[in-house]
Amino acid sequence: MIHTFDVVIVGAGGAGLRAAVEIPKEYSCAVISKVFPTRSHTGTAQGGVCAALSNEEPDSWLDHAFDTVKGSDYLGDQDAIEIMCQDAPRAIIELEHMGMPFSRTKEGKIAQRKFGGHTKLENPNDPNSKRIPVNRACYSADRTGHVMLQTLYENCIKNNVNFYSEYFITDLIIEDGVCKGLTAIDMATSEIHVFHAKAIMFATGGFGRAFRITSNAHVGTGDGCALVYQAGLPLEDMEFFQFHPTGLWRLGILVSEAARGEGGILRNNANEPFMEVYAPSVKDLAPRDMVSRAIISEIREGRGILGSDGTYYINLDLTHLGKKVIDEKIPEITGFARTYLGVEPTKECVPIQPTAHYAMGGIPTNYDTEVLADNTGKTVSGFYAAGECACVSVHGGNRLGTNSLLDIVVFGRRGGKKIGEFLKSAEYSKFKADPFERTKELKEKILNQSGNEKVPVIRRELQQNMMDKCGIFRNEKELAENRIHIKELKERYKNISIQDKTKVFNTDLIEAIELGNLLDIAESINDSALNRNESRGAHTREDFPKRNDAEWMKHTFIWKSETGKPKIEYKKVKITQFQPMERKY
Ligand code: FUM
Repeated sequence: MIHTFDVVIVGAGGAGLRAAVEIPKEYSCAVISKVFPTRSHTGTAQGGVCAALSNEEPDSWLDHAFDTVKGSDYLGDQDAIEIMCQDAPRAIIELEHMGMPFSRTKEGKIAQRKFGGHTKLENPNDPNSKRIPVNRACYSADRTGHVMLQTLYENCIKNNVNFYSEYFITDLIIEDGVCKGLTAIDMATSEIHVFHAKAIMFATGGFGRAFRITSNAHVGTGDGCALVYQAGLPLEDMEFFQFHPTGLWRLGILVSEAARGEGGILRNNANEPFMEVYAPSVKDLAPRDMVSRAIISEIREGRGILGSDGTYYINLDLTHLGKKVIDEKIPEITGFARTYLGVEPTKECVPIQPTAHYAMGGIPTNYDTEVLADNTGKTVSGFYAAGECACVSVHGGNRLGTNSLLDIVVFGRRGGKKIGEFLKSAEYSKFKADPFERTKELKEKILNQSGNEKVPVIRRELQQNMMDKCGIFRNEKELAENRIHIKELKERYKNISIQDKTKVFNTDLIEAIELGNLLDIAESINDSALNRNESRGAHTREDFPKRNDAEWMKHTFIWKSETGKPKIEYKKVKITQFQPMERKY
């Protein structure tokens, strides 16, 4: 079946839905999603969405921009960061007017809390005074992403957006540099559908499922990024993958940074609050790359706590916060600790470990969400990307907590607006090749082949190796080993077979395609990491422990190559007003 819409948005998380709300009413708009929209991964975002609203104390968007640039380890593009931070207060008020139920101060204003890396000068009149944490994160208890997603979905329904839920994208159709549409499998029937459009936006989310311990939902398999890579377009800064410091031990389920924003403290096996050693000014509210490294360093140096299964964790102490704060401000995550670890957070510490959380890299775009064809700034006509799958780049080497929910609403809206302008003169472009063909081949191959390799086995090996060799600490030897391992897994993947051959909700089929995507994504992360001989943000090379601005103030662009070794080129970082300096907290 072929569907025709002016614009098709893939992904029903915050970026996709915010873009859909912005598409002018005279154009037809469809949103395709692998899950029912309100089950999108945005719904798991917990702690907040930041903006210099100054509701709890004086703040400014320039401080927010400074923190974001510094947090990115100076890899973020400063023109895009300025746009995002300056637009943030407007974006929050807009969400409030759309109906988003924020937590409130006593005076009824939107409440704000502290989050890692968000700071202000201790003495505003002295630019050399130390920087201390500031209340910048607007929140709805610890369910901020959940209520944002519900609000945006309701607004899409009000705007008569068409939804195709449980459709899985399999092919991106770009011919002669023009994006013409895409192909998807209806998961309920396994039928192939073609979507013909003047404009396509990918808002397909991240790829935490490339790692064994992750906070990402099962949907986070990087399908959009993988399709872009498979279509011969580059991915940007894939080596920068964020580990959130506090995932529930062994499970990776997110324990919001809001816990530390509300006063929670990380402690080692001697009950010491060790973050003051690593970040004396902001301590537990240092940026995530630093806190995750600190946790792993404590464990490596023998100060972790030995768990029943022989693995180590660190304690998150919330006991001093009191029942009222825990119940009112962080009810969801403390509920997770009770349910999944049997721990009572009002009385006991919560065992945690860093968890693969967020992709700073992804599909390169300019700050109007137009997808870049290469590292010169050339764009692909009719193709847009926003949210975690995109790399604008506002997060550079390390994202600050609560900047992701901000990113999706600011750039989702900008994308919707830009598409609206584009549609004024855009035409449908005819397909040259049969748009069904590649998906038909892929589907038939997976359903019919009878190899002896199993999808869950290959996936597990990939995820464990990514964790062990391409995780928080990296070095040339292990990255090179992982490179060979990914190649071997790709060979073995050619020989998979699946058990379920039926048509109705064939999750074996979908998981097999997802694994192909994850293998490509892992390759792009690992090769980009192997090439970057420095440490910056979330990319820590033990063999190159220092940041090297002279050689590496540049974004990685990586292209898939059928010959095996992906092509890598670089693009200069955009600096406006914040000169790189040593990153101390
Ligand atoms: O810790 C958290 O609540 C996560 C927020 C984020 O990733 O922005």
